[in-house]
Amino acid sequence: MAATGAKTIRMAMVGIGVGGAEILPAMESTEGIELYAGADVNPTTRERFKTRYPEAKVYDSIEALCADPDVDAVWVSTPNRLHAPHAVTAANNGKHVVVEKPMALSLREAEQIVEAGRKNNVQVMAGHTMAYSYPIRAMRRIINSGKLGRLTNLQALAYTDWLLRPRSAEELDPNQGGGVPWRQTPHQVDSMRLMGGGKVRSVRGMTGKWGDWRPIEGFYTAYLEFEDGTPCHIIHNGYGYFLTGDLVPWGDSTSRYTPEERGELRRAMRAGTRNEEADKQALRIGGEAEQRVFRQGGGPRPWSPGDLGVVLVCCENGVIRHSKFGLFIYDDDGQHDMDMTSESANPIAQRRGELVEFHASLAAGKPLFHDGIWGMGTIEVALAIMQSARERREIVLSHQVAVPDTYDAELSVPYLDDKA
Ligand SMILES: NC(=O)c1ccc[n+]([C@@H]2O[C@H](COP(=O)([O-])OP(=O)(O)OC[C@H]3O[C@@H](n4cnc5c(N)ncnc54)[C@H](O)[C@@H]3O)[C@@H](O)[C@H]2O)c1
Repeated sequence: MAATGAKTIRMAMVGIGVGGAEILPAMESTEGIELYAGADVNPTTRERFKTRYPEAKVYDSIEALCADPDVDAVWVSTPNRLHAPHAVTAANNGKHVVVEKPMALSLREAEQIVEAGRKNNVQVMAGHTMAYSYPIRAMRRIINSGKLGRLTNLQALAYTDWLLRPRSAEELDPNQGGGVPWRQTPHQVDSMRLMGGGKVRSVRGMTGKWGDWRPIEGFYTAYLEFEDGTPCHIIHNGYGYFLTGDLVPWGDSTSRYTPEERGELRRAMRAGTRNEEADKQALRIGGEAEQRVFRQGGGPRPWSPGDLGVVLVCCENGVIRHSKFGLFIYDDDGQHDMDMTSESANPIAQRRGELVEFHASLAAGKPLFHDGIWGMGTIEVALAIMQSARERREIVLSHQVAVPDTYDAELSVPYLDDKA
């Protein structure tokens, strides 16, 4: 959405795939962000992008995109192995950068992105994780207010259909960041770090690969211990036999397949008869599944655990979890349902958090919290989970940073206002 007062940032997307399709509606509707250009190697995608956004420029490479002097910032949502090279190319061409999760495939690559940002004096944001969602940020504010006493432990439990969604060849290669541990740790780890203060001391993890129909890891579990000793457990199981959404009494509006369809998909993958490329393209821009999955209009949509899972925040004197349209807070006065419909119940608005932070940083000089250094901390935890699983031991971390105190300043949380 072009600006109605605030300075406009001309944003370009490289890699207009499924991840791109997911963020485009938020980009279209964030004040101060103009979707100015797109680049992709896939000609069908380029054509569909042009049809959707006739005003936008279209390029077939990151180099051509970066040669455009009118591009202010590049959103990197190409496959994982290209995140670092594309983010560095954009920064070296003087463009600000948002890089999709996982930020990079090694700490060395993440450092190269941070370094390129520093050297070229451009902002680097480690983007597109659930940590930007309003309920998670509200949970953090309630923890930090001290109203429920000290944080005692954190949990996130996700059972999803991640392995059943269509995957490209590169997503099936663990050396290119394929599999649930690479793709899904950023959502849970970023969110847990945000609530636990940022600095994880150590990690003990285990990963799992047991589907004969998918040659990549579909499971991880990890115990993270924060610097102050706060324990945290995270689990993601992407095999799709059971979904955490099944536990939600109001139903899961985000599940893509019925249990029967999930069985059919497993059988088709075992038999090698599924046309995954066609299924994947259907989810990308202009595809028949894109509208249903990423561009649902209508009224507020109830919260669903999705890929983040059921989150439990436990404090000395209470517990917090998601409610249908906000948060349940359990304290000594009972159970409160804190309504956040305006901020949390529109999935498109949910995705705007990072764009708003990015825009505020470029247009108004406000701090960028989820920067490259923060992203490196999240990648370090992901790598430690995989190393711990291989070596069957606890890994102690060294690249962790705290969330600055100023992070919470502008988020209003009704529960805290009521209790003031
Ligand atoms: N944050 C989220 O919730 C979320 C959701 C989905 C995907 N993602 C991320 O998005 C990234 C891509 O995954 P995807 O599922 O969208 O895959 P995808 O294959 O649909 O998208 C990748 C796109 O990049 C294009 N591409 C490949 N090489 C390129 C190059 N050299 N130059 C320009 N374009 C190129 C492809 O043609 C494709 O359109 C991954 O890093 C993934 O983790 C994030």
